[in-house]
Amino acid sequence: MKMALILLVALCSSFEIFATQSYLSVFTSTYPSVRGSQLESCATCHSPVKADFLNAYGLDLRDKGKNLNFKAIEALDSDEDGKSNIQEIKAEMYPGSQAATAEYLIFTNKKGAVHFNHEMHVTGPAAGDCSKCHGVDMFPKYFNDSIPVRDKAHTICWRCHSESGNPNAPLQCDWCHQ
Ligand code: HEC
Ligand code: HEC
Ligand code: HEC
Ligand code: HEC
Repeated sequence: MKMALILLVALCSSFEIFATQSYLSVFTSTYPSVRGSQLESCATCHSPVKADFLNAYGLDLRDKGKNLNFKAIEALDSDEDGKSNIQEIKAEMYPGSQAATAEYLIFTNKKGAVHFNHEMHVTGPAAGDCSKCHGVDMFPKYFNDSIPVRDKAHTICWRCHSESGNPNAPLQCDWCHQ
């Protein structure tokens, strides 16, 4: 019984990895012109989050474009910015975000401003798991530059950068503080 359960869990998680990777690859094969643009990214459907770790375009795809039927949601304007999804995709603009570029939070402080790409972190290293940074004794879910978060930042940000072993994750002071 226990074995069967473990097997089921293993099957489900490999299916999930397959499923999420295929969203991006089916998107780029449906719209080859987005290859190499900012739209070839998890953020296209996942940021900024509106519900269930999906943005407005991701939600429309899930609910109105079932089985990856991208055509069914082309005429919609998911992010309500006055341009249809297909117009935005052709223009290499995010169909699920009114922002033209990825979402940044900039901490200004005496040591030097820290540019934090929230969107990249949510969809990349944290893979949608908000609890990597938010929760009790973690970062609040609001941005207020007048409330310092130095101690939390130097623990939470630095620890993950160190543990990730990723050479693009800054560990030196003047790489984060510019
Ligand atoms: C073209 C849109 C699109 C792109 C691009 C995309 N996703 Fe998704 N993703 C979705 C949708 C829609 C769901 C919801 C599936 C559901 O609930 O039926 C989802 C679900 C997920 C889930 C939840 C687990 C699951 O399988 O249900 C994770 C984690 C995820 N995506 C991660 C990623 C990552 C990481 C990337 C970039 C490599 C990515 N996604 C790119 C549309 C997208
Ligand atoms: C890698 C760390 C990290 C992850 C993962 C993360 N956040 Fe954040 N988030 C932050 C930080 C840091 C701030 C700024 C907090 C502050 O200034 O005190 C923030 C701020 C926010 C804000 C306020 C933005 C504003 O403009 O006021 C919201 C909303 C938010 N996060 C939602 C989420 C959600 C939803 C998820 C999961 C889908 C998530 N975050 C995942 C680090 C993260
Ligand atoms: C991973 C990124 C990162 C690294 C590496 C880093 N910091 Fe920071 N640091 C931050 C963030 C984010 C804040 C919070 C800024 C805020 O609250 O506005 C901060 C805040 C500070 C502050 C407080 C500034 C003030 O106005 O009170 C000082 C001082 C500081 N860091 C010094 C350092 C030193 C020295 C190092 C190297 C040993 C370092 N930091 C490395 C991200 C980093
Ligand atoms: C869940 C782990 C994790 C957490 C938490 C995290 N980071 Fe990162 N960060 C990474 C990884 C991994 C990379 C390298 C991504 C890549 O491959 O480019 C990175 C890259 C960066 C970069 C360089 C790329 C860029 O966007 O310019 C900066 C700056 C940065 N992080 C700042 C921060 C700050 C500030 C915090 C805390 C508020 C933070 N990170 C929290 C994992 C994390």
